[in-house]
Amino acid sequence: NTQPIRMRKDVRILLIGERGVGKTSLILSLVSEEFPEEVPPRTEAITIPADVTPERIPTHIIDYSAQEQGEEELMEEIVRAHVVCIVYSVDNEETIRAITDYWLPLVRRVVPDEDRKPVVLVGNKSDVLQVSSMESILPIMNEFTEVETCVECSAKTLRNISEVFYYAQKSVLHPTAPLYLPEEKE
Ligand code: GTP
Ligand code: MG
Repeated sequence: NTQPIRMRKDVRILLIGERGVGKTSLILSLVSEEFPEEVPPRTEAITIPADVTPERIPTHIIDYSAQEQGEEELMEEIVRAHVVCIVYSVDNEETIRAITDYWLPLVRRVVPDEDRKPVVLVGNKSDVLQVSSMESILPIMNEFTEVETCVECSAKTLRNISEVFYYAQKSVLHPTAPLYLPEEKE
């Protein structure tokens, strides 16, 4: 059972998730290495040049904002992305529930099975919570095999920020689990 080796010339990372979880802040924190006190609803697409990424591949980071974009545009961005980061806020149960109620089913609906793309679950605002959200997240990882990794981070303290984008990049270039199991053929 050989898996095709896919060469990529770039990686396209899309951040989605409920409003206010910190998608825009995460991107700006990564780029400026400091927490932005004021953020626009959505950032321009950002390209990280190959030589400063761990895997030496130009990486585009795409923000999403329900305030500025409709569902149609969201679905187009999901199709274009190589990896989808679903961001939630570790201190907000509702944003965790929405992962399985809305975001993961949406990604499945938009992307045909054979194109299934890796998903990284990103728990932001870890600075405001002492306990971990992993207890709620692990069952999701078990149920949805497209979820490659989960990571808790804070755009505010910069904890694990570069890791978020590294894991996302890595899940495209070196998936750890089969994303799609072709049916057994006779
Ligand atoms: P939408 O664009 O509306 O979908 O929101 P968003 O997901 O882009 O969130 P945004 O970056 O606008 O952040 C929402 C609020 O959360 C802002 O007040 C941020 O300052 C705050 N915030 C973002 N990241 C963190 C974090 O790591 N810790 C804390 N304590 N607050 C954060
Ligand atoms: Mg935003």
